Amino acid sequence: APPYARCSSLSEFAQRLQSARHVIVLLGAGASVSAGIPDFRSPGTGLYDNLAKYNLPFPEAVFDLDFFVQNPWPFYQLSRELWPGGYSPTAAHHFVKLLHDRQQLLRCYTQNIDSLEALAGLPKDKVVAAHGNFDSAHVVGRDVEVPIELLREATLRGEDATRELNEQYGGLCKPSITFFGEALPKRFGELAPEDFELCDLLVVMGTSLKVQPFACLATFPSVGVPRLLINRDRVGPFHFVSDGDLPIDLVTDVFFQGDCDDGVRELARLAGMLPALES
Ligand code: OAD
Repeated sequence: APPYARCSSLSEFAQRLQSARHVIVLLGAGASVSAGIPDFRSPGTGLYDNLAKYNLPFPEAVFDLDFFVQNPWPFYQLSRELWPGGYSPTAAHHFVKLLHDRQQLLRCYTQNIDSLEALAGLPKDKVVAAHGNFDSAHVVGRDVEVPIELLREATLRGEDATRELNEQYGGLCKPSITFFGEALPKRFGELAPEDFELCDLLVVMGTSLKVQPFACLATFPSVGVPRLLINRDRVGPFHFVSDGDLPIDLVTDVFFQGDCDDGVRELARLAGMLPALES
């Protein structure tokens, strides 16, 4: 027998959740879809399939630093739609907050730039906004802060206003969200090694795990630490019991295939946490 207990079903995971002290949650865009915010890569509905009006060389160019330096206007235009406000946290976010209230949450690593974790009530120190957010803005390539409200107003007023703001600040003003070609916030690298040393349970929700280095966080927990994927599609480096590639006693990964909100509700129900989640 392995030196750890198997965890091969959602009910086994729920049981382990009841005693976990250092839960880490990894979030992607799927966790915010039920709030009305599209994800990136779902065919048809995802953001990357709906950028034709921007005439981009490739969809990800809208978040690409080299492209932004050549032509910032597509991102500025899109940012008017992405800017937080008017969206409410989902059951998935409330579940993470519940883990925090129960003193079981070590950290929530999110790729999302919608700040719905904060809106659900998670304190700043519990969240790693791995791809940044709209809390602040700076000048590209320079250590100069730009009041985020000024940038928001300029993008709303139009291309000339953004050009004027950039001239005023001596460079391209950009919300502090992480573009392709940029390093992740320092916090990510500072906290991840220690956090994953302590991690005794991992929940991964609503992400395609296609973007590095975030995606590799899913491989960081120690051997034997239960990992749950809640996602519409099967993704990532997991070995589920249905794969049949491991003897059942070695399985510690669980897949709930479906929507994040349904997954957290089912997990909460099995763990006796549903009344708290719904209150
Ligand atoms: P993706 O759009 O790549 O993946 C979303 C995943 O969630 C897909 O596997 C969907 O099937 C799944 N999904 C969608 N709706 C869901 C729901 N309601 N419940 C459960 N699953 C659902 O989004 P991310 O993985 O977050 O980066 O994308 C990662 C990064 O790529 C983003 O942070 C962004 C993007 O480029 C930057 O902009 C820097």
